[in-house]
Amino acid sequence: MNKMLFNDQIMDRDTLVDIEDRAYQFGDGIYEVIGVYNGKPLMLDEHMERLERSAREIRLTLPESTSELKRKLEELVSVNELEEGIIYMQVSRGIASREHYFPGENVQPVTVAYTREEERMTDVEDRGAKAVLVEDIRWLRCDIKTLNLLPNAMAKQEAVENNAIEAILHRGETVTEASASNVFIVKNGELYTHPANNYILNGITRKKIIQLCDSLNIKVNEETYSVDDLLQADEVFVSATKLDVVPILNVDDHTIADGTPGEVTKRIVEAFRSLYQQDVKN
Ligand code: PDD
Repeated sequence: MNKMLFNDQIMDRDTLVDIEDRAYQFGDGIYEVIGVYNGKPLMLDEHMERLERSAREIRLTLPESTSELKRKLEELVSVNELEEGIIYMQVSRGIASREHYFPGENVQPVTVAYTREEERMTDVEDRGAKAVLVEDIRWLRCDIKTLNLLPNAMAKQEAVENNAIEAILHRGETVTEASASNVFIVKNGELYTHPANNYILNGITRKKIIQLCDSLNIKVNEETYSVDDLLQADEVFVSATKLDVVPILNVDDHTIADGTPGEVTKRIVEAFRSLYQQDVKN
């Protein structure tokens, strides 16, 4: 089954992009990537809340209520018979004659969503992976999940060319996040992660980890830390939808601690896994 959501219709996935869709010409839109497990979208309410916030911040009025959108996304997963994978969805400001300024109110936003089958990356969670450091050259509203991902794509490309899973971004000395995930370090048993301000995307996985740490009695400090702190950390991991929690063992040519996944990270990986069994991720 290969259906997509196009505005309010579920249809065959053969709809062509209009060259004057503002997503195409300006990256003028917002998106979400939602995990699906056992045929259920995970933490869908949280993703819908973030979508609403992103829309508000770029002054885009969502064409439908998020409860309606939620229902449509669930229907899409069901017609595509998706058991495990992701939903990608985006809302652009719509199709209009190319002008930088926003089109008039007669132009409706365009909503598109599709699903992709993908298995959970449990072996990389167990094994750990490498990351590279890349200067964060993005704009100053990284808290909005917009379609403008060129700096993220360039950073990820650098990671891939160096056999790394992620590019950890830093503005000068300060570590912000990674190209498509959030970054945590562990020092003396406590977690440190960049505060949720305009320099990072407040990941849904990040928020879940902070919540889990509360019940695991692990202190989380939402504070900035430096590249040096990262390199000298006891443990480092990244978090994102689908990736969940991945231990980082090497950053560039530097080995983190003894180069094996750390105990605190392993507890979080386990706690996260048990969420999948408990079905409480919604
Ligand atoms: N990216 N930071 C950035 C820059 C991201 O692009 C993402 C997610 C995250 C983690 O957010 P969450 O836990 O809500 O997935 C942090 C998605 C997966 C993507 O663009 O594919």
